[in-house]
Amino acid sequence: MRNDDLLSPLRYQGGVLELLDQRILPIEEKWIGYRDYREIARAITDMVVRGAPAIGCAAAYGVAIGAKQGAALSEVIATLRATRPTAVNLFWALDRMQRMSPPSPENLEREAIAIHQEDIAACVAIGNFGAPLLPAGNVLTHCNAGALATGGYGTALGVIRSAQQAGKKFTVFVDETRPFLQGSRLTAWELQKSGIAVQLITDNMAAHFMQKGEIQSVVVGADRIAQNGDTANKIGTYGVALLAAAHQIPFFVAAPLSTIDLKTADGSQIPIEERSSREVTHIGDRALAPAGIGVRNPAFDVTPARLIAAIITEKGVARAPYAASLKLVKVE
Ligand code: MRU
Repeated sequence: MRNDDLLSPLRYQGGVLELLDQRILPIEEKWIGYRDYREIARAITDMVVRGAPAIGCAAAYGVAIGAKQGAALSEVIATLRATRPTAVNLFWALDRMQRMSPPSPENLEREAIAIHQEDIAACVAIGNFGAPLLPAGNVLTHCNAGALATGGYGTALGVIRSAQQAGKKFTVFVDETRPFLQGSRLTAWELQKSGIAVQLITDNMAAHFMQKGEIQSVVVGADRIAQNGDTANKIGTYGVALLAAAHQIPFFVAAPLSTIDLKTADGSQIPIEERSSREVTHIGDRALAPAGIGVRNPAFDVTPARLIAAIITEKGVARAPYAASLKLVKVE
């Protein structure tokens, strides 16, 4: 695949990082230019850029830009580390940038570009490993683990793209993914743009369509995979995994090795980000709930490894017991 055919949420040239503003898709396709690492940190917190691998790529460019600005590397990295806690790709990318020696602006820029390009290649490889696993029939996905969430091509949507390129015929059921609506705003947009058949559903419809026999597999991305295979992903993923198990539908996780955190023993150790109550009480400026109401808004949940049929990486497919298989694909 040629890189210029590829949808990517980030582009970098001449010391400027441009991000496709994912807060306003699909209404508007607007690119914002960044020349300051502190603004890149804010863009990650505010979800201008989101999705675990894309956050890692943006942070790496943030370090390169911080170095060009002449800021202390320790301060740049500390600022970027404090943006979002769950996706381990952020910390993986920052650790990799920190290891760069010597940490010259040129070397850091080259390393950031390499992280971005390697992520695209990883997604294509994930797609090729994952496509043959999908049984005949329709597939459901949750949140956005597509080109928009990665360097490009996507993890879960990479599997779906590769399956379509291999000639498989199916419809993708897309959960809208409350409260930030990554499914309806981003996944539906991205798949439509790629000419892949979509049925958009609200999150509470998945059980119904599984019961009706309209969904034959589930594939999702991941924000952090613990050593035992427990997987943090967008809030609601655990519920989908339980539904899939109840209907004997295989539930696949697609993620690059940068998402696997062998230092975290199990899912209970994964930090779960809690975001603003406003994401739940409002859509845009419109209130959906009484003012002052108590709200919880965890952005992620953890799917236990026992519910996962396989974890698809760029180095191959890991299956239970994950404590052994993940160590084989990710040699540290
Ligand atoms: O809060 P977000 O939009 O950053 O959450 C994104 C997800 O949960 C994705 O499914 C995950 O990062 C995998 S992206 C390839």
